[in-house]
Amino acid sequence: MQIHSTIFSLRAARNVVGCSAGRVALVPTMGNLHDGHIALMTQARAHADTVIATIFVNRLQFRPGEDFEAYPRTFETDCARLEAAGVSHLFAPDEAEMYPQPQGYHIEPPAAQAGILDGEFRPGHFRGVATVVMKLFQIVQPDVALFGKKDYQQLMVIRNLVREFNVPVEILGGETIRAPDGLALSSRNGYLSESERSEAPRLYRLLSELVDAVRAGSRDFQLLEQRAFAALKDHGWMPDYVALRKKLDLQLPSVHESGLVVLAAARLGSTRLIDNLEV
Ligand code: PAJ
Repeated sequence: MQIHSTIFSLRAARNVVGCSAGRVALVPTMGNLHDGHIALMTQARAHADTVIATIFVNRLQFRPGEDFEAYPRTFETDCARLEAAGVSHLFAPDEAEMYPQPQGYHIEPPAAQAGILDGEFRPGHFRGVATVVMKLFQIVQPDVALFGKKDYQQLMVIRNLVREFNVPVEILGGETIRAPDGLALSSRNGYLSESERSEAPRLYRLLSELVDAVRAGSRDFQLLEQRAFAALKDHGWMPDYVALRKKLDLQLPSVHESGLVVLAAARLGSTRLIDNLEV
């Protein structure tokens, strides 16, 4: 695997691939890679001749007081995992390479998509994500890019970004990879204490129960959301939201709507976890 820390070096390698007419897949990450990230790399290999992964902890998408400084950085292990997963190129710039001067232009996703759910509790987050992802698309110029459904709202924002700006990149979503007890893998799981780690799968269990209830015909969505929210609170969580939404645009569904997803975010101690399940 070739490691590129500059845009110049990455572009030179990308152009060599371009000349051989191979398809290029991009998998952007912030590092501290787990099996969820690796599953995206494997999926990428099935869709392209060359996989380019990126590792960049993007300050723009963190709010002051969030975990930008503390975000786990495990570069050596990450490289070994990427290499084993058949990734050909890693782009791992430092901040000065990605943002040589303050980013003056930003991609501002519409409030209806980026001001709801996680965007309500992390204002500016999706603006930071959309801006860095657009930069990565310009730098790497992939044919296809892969993002996990674990970050469902992020995937929706990126799909719309690509459509509205006519970016010639195919966007593919990867299924959420979970620990055997159901907890969605996340770099932030490492923040959990032992007792929090054993409590953490409750989020998945409650979402599964809610999905089962909807599948069984329950249509009082608000009541289902409130019950799951209260159950989290009862067990010491500080939930931000539990929300049943339309898969396509994450807006409120009407009672007989199909194609739903339930999304939740909640803090356990000082760790904020998110998860979702399609109905
Ligand atoms: P990061 O959290 O490192 O995630 C990188 C990619 O892995 C994202 O597409 C995310 O949805 C996916 N992912 C994370 N956990 C997963 C799991 N358990 N199963 C499947 N996929 C999973 O998301 C980001 O980084 C950043 O916002 C980024 C897109 C790189 C922009 O900075």
